[in-house]
Amino acid sequence: MSKTITILGIESSCDDTAAAIIQNGKILANVVANQSVHNLYGGVVPELASRAHQQNIIPVVDQALKRANVSKTELDAVAFTRGPGLMGSLLVGTSFAKAFALGLNIPLIEVNHMQGHILAHFIEDANEGKHPEFPFLCLTVSGGHTQIVLIKDFFDLKVIGETIDDAAGEAFDKAAKIMGLPYPGGPLIDKYAKEGNPHAFKFTKPNIQQLDFSFSGLKTNFMNFINNEVARNPSFIEEQRDNICASIQYTIIDILLTKLKKAVEQTGVKQIAIAGGVSANSGLRSALLNLEKELDWNVYIPKFEYCTDNAAMIAITGYYKFLKNDFSNQAIAPTARYAL
Ligand code: KG4
Ligand code: ZN
Repeated sequence: MSKTITILGIESSCDDTAAAIIQNGKILANVVANQSVHNLYGGVVPELASRAHQQNIIPVVDQALKRANVSKTELDAVAFTRGPGLMGSLLVGTSFAKAFALGLNIPLIEVNHMQGHILAHFIEDANEGKHPEFPFLCLTVSGGHTQIVLIKDFFDLKVIGETIDDAAGEAFDKAAKIMGLPYPGGPLIDKYAKEGNPHAFKFTKPNIQQLDFSFSGLKTNFMNFINNEVARNPSFIEEQRDNICASIQYTIIDILLTKLKKAVEQTGVKQIAIAGGVSANSGLRSALLNLEKELDWNVYIPKFEYCTDNAAMIAITGYYKFLKNDFSNQAIAPTARYAL
């Protein structure tokens, strides 16, 4: 008789406090507490993030257990994000996970957040029962990450391209901030871009080696452009809002997809997955679906709740590690930088 394996996943690497319960690969509860405290500041304030995690962690875990209708004594292991992320934020989730596992006398499983984003594709209901076949490429794009990863197996992941400065979500958020839009600006740029002309304004594209990305030059170019235009016409942003949003969005997507196409050419792999908050962008989604037809790719876009930071992705990775008996020692500590 096969045993039911029930795992609690904890995620606290940035500004979302999250807990999820997974049972044999199926998510029973996926709870996320967002932190609105950062909205005022135009970005995540690490010190405030750790304090909010401290307040949220117990209620979030409690909710996840209740929604899953699972008692803590039924848990077989606790999986948690060890890194990469903000140290103060990671410490809260790590300390909680260690204490909870110790108290329940069950194994502890450390998870790399970036591996979690990728393995989220294997959650049963992530993409209507479909999941990528090995080998596949994953474009992970969020406020903190921009990577292209070649995945040959659950535990054979190789970063083949990544940003040398800002992440793609940061590029969206910084552009929005320059336009005076609130944080996080990515969803607003997406919304206004729908009404604008993507070719109204041209911005610089970086000239970066191989499969790596850069977005800091684009930010400077965009800021100079806005400052010059506003100096000439103080109402420029209001009058051209939709065109500006459509043009900056077009440029960011173009930078991402140029490298993704190059990665497909270099590897010959046409199974393409996407992860991270920016994968909610409607322009990016439709551009990917067009490439799927045009270049004969298979594109996998998981449900939005599994794209943004969540604990379901930590729970599924914990589940695969549990199956390998890959457990962590109680002496484990979080790490802000953590290569795949
Ligand atoms: O994965 P996520 O929730 O958190 C991390 O950063 O790890 O991603 C958040 C990022 C933010 O930069 C946000 O602006 C961006 O994802 N984002 C979007 C959209 N929705 C979220 N960017 C562009 N278009 C969107 N629709
Ligand atoms: Zn993330």
